[in-house]
Amino acid sequence: MQDYKEFLSEVLIPPDVLQARIKELGAQISQDFAGSPILLICILRGGVMFLTDLIRSISTPVAIDFMAVSSYGAGRRESSGEVRITLDLNTSLTGRHVILVEDIIDSGRTLYSVMELLHTRKPKSICVCTLLDKSERREVDVPLRYVGFSIPNKFVFGYGLDLDEYYRNLPFIGVVDLERYHPDSGAEYAS
Ligand code: IMP
Ligand code: MG
Repeated sequence: MQDYKEFLSEVLIPPDVLQARIKELGAQISQDFAGSPILLICILRGGVMFLTDLIRSISTPVAIDFMAVSSYGAGRRESSGEVRITLDLNTSLTGRHVILVEDIIDSGRTLYSVMELLHTRKPKSICVCTLLDKSERREVDVPLRYVGFSIPNKFVFGYGLDLDEYYRNLPFIGVVDLERYHPDSGAEYAS
């Protein structure tokens, strides 16, 4: 397993900048929903770090739930276009204010499919909060209400985002130099 320093081409967003922006997003959400209870749905696994920091900056009553979808084949860097729900929610959405929390919106295909599904469950309102927006890569139009950072078309890792399931624990968002990154041969991971 490589040390991330071997393939880190730059730190795109350092920890203090991430944390400051997440506090702003939490304050904005608290203001917009002013006292109304909200349900935050986190898409596993990339959104976990963001969710746990975000909820600590929200002052309105917050419930959380998790779902998992798979859209990338192992080791691939492109959405397959086919999104599968691998873990569903435990909570009813009917009549509730829902915020879908995502790590990154790339092609938009994952989010589009998830939103289509969640709309059928009759929430009172539903919107998206994403930490990162790679808008140059968008193929499907999806409205984003809260965006942490707009980023260039580069493959990033850290702070929840993985490279073949590793490096999620790093406290910054880094850019991968794909020429210097060598996945362990023979390793198979779900994405
Ligand atoms: P989309 O369906 O193309 O929008 O893909 C969204 C998902 O792809 C995200 O939730 C991530 O899991 C993954 N993804 C997209 N871009 C990156 C990246 O630069 N680094 C790590 N994961 C990414
Ligand atoms: Mg991933």
